[in-house]
Amino acid sequence: MPIQTNPDLQWWKKTTVYQVYPRSFKDSTGNGIGDILGIISKLDYLQDLGVETIWFSPFFSSPQADHGYDVSDFRSISPEYGTIADCDKLIENIHNRGMYVVFDMVLNHTSNQHPWFLESKSSRNNPKRDWYIWRDGQKFGGKKPPNNWKAMVGGSGWHYDELTDQWYWAQFLPFQPDLNYRNPKVKQEMFDTIRFWLDKGVDGFRLDIINTIYEDEALRNNPFTWRLFPSEEDDKSFFQNKIHTMNHPDNFTFIKELRNVLDEYTDPERFLVGEITASLELLKRYCGDNVDGTKTNGLHLTFQFQSLNTKFNASTFRNIIESYEQYFTEPYIPTWVFSNHDQMRRISKLGNNIDKAKLNTTLQLTARGVPFIYYGEEIGMANHRLPLKNAEDPIGQKYSRIPQFLVNLLTRSGSLSLNRDNCRTPMQWDPSLNAGFCSEELKPWLPVSPCYQTINVHSEESDSNSILNCYKTLLKLRKETPALHSGSLNLLPPFLFGGILSFQRVYNEQVVQIWLNFSTKPTRTSEIGENPRVLFSTVAGCNPLKDTLLHLEPYQGVVLELFS
Ligand code: GLC
Repeated sequence: MPIQTNPDLQWWKKTTVYQVYPRSFKDSTGNGIGDILGIISKLDYLQDLGVETIWFSPFFSSPQADHGYDVSDFRSISPEYGTIADCDKLIENIHNRGMYVVFDMVLNHTSNQHPWFLESKSSRNNPKRDWYIWRDGQKFGGKKPPNNWKAMVGGSGWHYDELTDQWYWAQFLPFQPDLNYRNPKVKQEMFDTIRFWLDKGVDGFRLDIINTIYEDEALRNNPFTWRLFPSEEDDKSFFQNKIHTMNHPDNFTFIKELRNVLDEYTDPERFLVGEITASLELLKRYCGDNVDGTKTNGLHLTFQFQSLNTKFNASTFRNIIESYEQYFTEPYIPTWVFSNHDQMRRISKLGNNIDKAKLNTTLQLTARGVPFIYYGEEIGMANHRLPLKNAEDPIGQKYSRIPQFLVNLLTRSGSLSLNRDNCRTPMQWDPSLNAGFCSEELKPWLPVSPCYQTINVHSEESDSNSILNCYKTLLKLRKETPALHSGSLNLLPPFLFGGILSFQRVYNEQVVQIWLNFSTKPTRTSEIGENPRVLFSTVAGCNPLKDTLLHLEPYQGVVLELFS
């Protein structure tokens, strides 16, 4: 029997993370917008679900033009979400449950309403001028942007300011000007902000578009490329290869400095997870060097968005696991993410098929890596296709003039989401009007998805076969089974007729096998190893083990423990 000799893993490598989009989780104040006290009222639910860490999309002060990703004060809370006292209470209540808290830190930019930017734009001589990236324009009396750089969302990332006759750089939308990290005061201030929240007990940070911190100082033009849309591996887009605006070499030094700030805090250890669209090779570079076989000196984790649009079949997942195991061996560790507040929900990419979603989840919660679950994913919440013309989402608003048929065509594959409202609709708590998100007479900030009468927490809690109960059972199993949260992973040989993916997790003497049938056909496996015992099955009510063979129904997933 192979022996796993790794020492006990750090807590953040074993954890499971649940993402709350505060605006859409639970309204407690009666304005149709979710808030912190609403979240606190649902902590029992999250604890019972079995997730261990909660990541909150930003609820810092903000004009909400990008619903919190446009911050106007990093150390206070937006009034619609609550107060700093509510926030302290949230942290305390989570810790009292033995759970962890992750905040979302938008280091790259601020809101254009942030007092720093208001000062910065007020005159060329203002002391805060150099907190942002201002440059003269080209030709025609400076009325042409300083260079060809495009924003991540398309169009020039330079925006002209008439008062001071200069241009400022914004990697995302025009109301999100980039901070200038070449100014040491900016870096100091933002590192101190991180310390401010660490002192309050925050256990980690999700770092928003962290690969865009630095740009080329000499402002060299980005070269041309034929690519129109970015992929999960590559951010070339809008006919531009973003070599001077993304993944700048200085980012890697910055990340190490930031890591040092985190390492000032040891009890418990805190962690960083970076939002970066890049190849596995580059993602690993962001994680830093292997220091001593147990830790790295960069980001603790990065999202591997490779999984977002994975085709639902055994061979594609097999390839993904193979490449994760190649790049992210200890002390590196991959993450498993299928949905978030910017993407179409995974279940809708699977045709809203609950059996497929359960199989997908079985993979997510049993493969080696840190799983990230997006609110509502655990009940099978579907994407709600909302018209672009009413978009609350600023990306949706930007593209609102595109005719609907073209939108449908562009978003058909699911890899592109033009209206992020679709995946941000209110959490579905029960079958009442407004799904228990807010009271019935109110208009929630986004319409509740019409599937709420059947897909909701209340109805699914009492249905032993629901996807919610599938999550609960798996999360509990993962927590209680060292091989699942800490074990090594090796793929079992591919099955003759495809369709089945199987792998083994091993920790000391414990051996756990995961068998996933991605096909529409019932399948029988060859001989399973010694003395198998079923720990979990996505299909209730029948024993998949017939002697030492495993009989798998279409889309069935099974977890077995082997005893020698
Ligand atoms: C990230 C966030 C997204 C936000 C953008 C700008 O991609 O996930 O929601 O709009 O950054 O901050």
